[in-house]
Amino acid sequence: MEKSRMIKFPCHGDERGWLVVAEGGGDIPFEIKRIFYIFGSERDVVRGRHANINSEFVLINVAGSCRVRVLDGLGGEEIFSLDSPHTGVYIPRYTWKEMYDFSPDSILLCISSEKYDPCEYIRDYDEFADMMKGEQYDR
Ligand code: TYD
Repeated sequence: MEKSRMIKFPCHGDERGWLVVAEGGGDIPFEIKRIFYIFGSERDVVRGRHANINSEFVLINVAGSCRVRVLDGLGGEEIFSLDSPHTGVYIPRYTWKEMYDFSPDSILLCISSEKYDPCEYIRDYDEFADMMKGEQYDR
């Protein structure tokens, strides 16, 4: 199974400033079907709190910063700090994610492999953990 990981994007700079490239099927490890972005969240807000059956994501703080906590449902946990417009975190399918600690200027760009389908979101952690324990048992 794929693991969450940080990704660095190529950054082109000259006297005019910087340009960051993130291509689907290249630096982004899937073809891109959807983008959305999150801004205006207070520091004590926790967003996400769900896992996806079909969608993979790359999250990039194009401005400001936040943290992303990922859980595998089997006791594994990782925390990623996003604070640069040329780094992101890849989040595979079947990964519980929580975004928090937003700076006031945070704009969190979310790139996804799938169009929005609320039916493929698991929003109950216990349900997710049971599902992952079942998967482990089936293997
Ligand atoms: P939600 O999944 O709760 O956001 P977060 O993961 O940041 O906590 O989504 C907030 C609202 O936006 C909810 O009403 C569903 C809607 N939404 C869409 O319509 N399309 C989308 O692609 C996404 C991600 C959310």
